[in-house]
Amino acid sequence: MEQGFTVWLTGLSGAGKSTIARLLYDELQARGLKVEILDGDVIRQNLSKGLGFSKEDRDTNVLRVAWVCQVLNKHGVAVIAALISPYRETRARVRAMLPRFVEVYVTAPLEELIRRDPKGLYKKALAGEIPNFTGISDPYEPPENPEVECRTHEETPEQSVAKILAHLESRGWIPEGAEAGQ
Ligand code: ADX
Repeated sequence: MEQGFTVWLTGLSGAGKSTIARLLYDELQARGLKVEILDGDVIRQNLSKGLGFSKEDRDTNVLRVAWVCQVLNKHGVAVIAALISPYRETRARVRAMLPRFVEVYVTAPLEELIRRDPKGLYKKALAGEIPNFTGISDPYEPPENPEVECRTHEETPEQSVAKILAHLESRGWIPEGAEAGQ
């Protein structure tokens, strides 16, 4: 059976990880792949229910998701993981667990995220109502060598997804150019 792969979207809350994940999901499905999304907001309602936002709990969350990626990839499923995953060393552990792994850094300036704030979380965090909020009162360690960087204040979600697809094509992990009707 063909091996799957993992596209790991890392970045601050509101940077655009979930939007890119959904669009990428549709594109990969259109190319005939079996695909699954593992999104932090959803994972924290089931697999990681009860975990908080200490370094230890975030690492537990991230490594649990990596384990699920491992299992799904082994059975030919392409996985799109969308988690803040703020710690560089933990992401390196994830990379080491997954034979086919692409790290995608989803980023926009903090002022832009505070302006977007679709869940109202930055407002609360800035008011001191959410402790340990990533980017405000908790660290985020940007990737040093991500395979793809999506600067969501400068490009559309479609452009971000096109970059990820081009990378996956260059690795030979997906068939080329379905959107061109080939
Ligand atoms: S991670 O750090 O463990 O990778 P994850 O991606 O699962 O984080 O969850 C992040 C989501 O949890 C955010 O998008 C936000 O909706 C919510 N959240 C609640 N509290 C916090 C917090 N203190 N820091 C960051 N995100 C938080």
